[in-house]
Amino acid sequence: MSIVTKHSLIERNAFLLLVLSFIVVAIGGLVQIVPLFFLDNTIEKVDGMRPYSPLELEGRNIYIREGCYTCHSQMIRALRDEVDRYGHYSLAAESMYDHPFQWGSKRTGPDLARVGGRYSDDWHVAHMHNPRDLVPESVMPAYPWLAETPIGPNRIADVMRANRATGVPYTDEMIATAQADFRAQADPDNGDVEALLAHYPKAVARNFDGNPRITELDALIAYLQMLGTLVDFSTFEPDASR
Ligand code: HEC
Repeated sequence: MSIVTKHSLIERNAFLLLVLSFIVVAIGGLVQIVPLFFLDNTIEKVDGMRPYSPLELEGRNIYIREGCYTCHSQMIRALRDEVDRYGHYSLAAESMYDHPFQWGSKRTGPDLARVGGRYSDDWHVAHMHNPRDLVPESVMPAYPWLAETPIGPNRIADVMRANRATGVPYTDEMIATAQADFRAQADPDNGDVEALLAHYPKAVARNFDGNPRITELDALIAYLQMLGTLVDFSTFEPDASR
């Protein structure tokens, strides 16, 4: 029997074709999956990564609610042009407290994984009010209601508990002080910033939108200004064995 007739046997027998296809696909899957079981940890060890502060976490909820991820990715690929433009390529550790992660699959706008500290708060306030005031050709929608919508910390402890259920290491103490930490970050003159920093090192505490009320814009800017600023890359060594 020549190879051609053997192959026509498979092509004419749908069941045999199905079984053999399954075996081929299974080999491909195993080659990808099995090595992962032999790694101690698929997330690299880095210094500085911590769970999001209550205000940042609320900002992240707003980011998701407004669908920012439909135009913005948060994953810098290990490609020369991306690293030159956005900074160090993203590490798995940097999204380990993201449930769900915000890697995104579309870049109508720039990647935001390291946008923290790149612009002033005032820039963000003006940009969210109307992107075209700063970037005339921008196609980003305006989000003027964020600056006008007050938010309080009443539900943030529940959000943190939900995150804890998915594996984010919020302690009982962090949940107990969530409301105070939330207020202290957006209104540092009237809050205990030291306690905030003890729970969330490097948290930036200030009145982000310049308005005495705490608004959704405060939370969103707190989140944006934190993005990409937590990991200490001076102590990070890529694991060459991977
Ligand atoms: C329709 C697509 C679209 C949506 C939705 C969108 N953006 Fe943008 N965004 C853009 C584009 C395009 C730019 C580049 C021009 C500009 O700066 O306005 C941009 C720029 C930005 C920048 C500046 C980034 C940089 O490195 O210069 C930030 C920050 C930003 N967007 C945040 C957000 C946030 C937060 C949301 C959700 C509330 C959002 N965007 C929703 C398209 C979008």
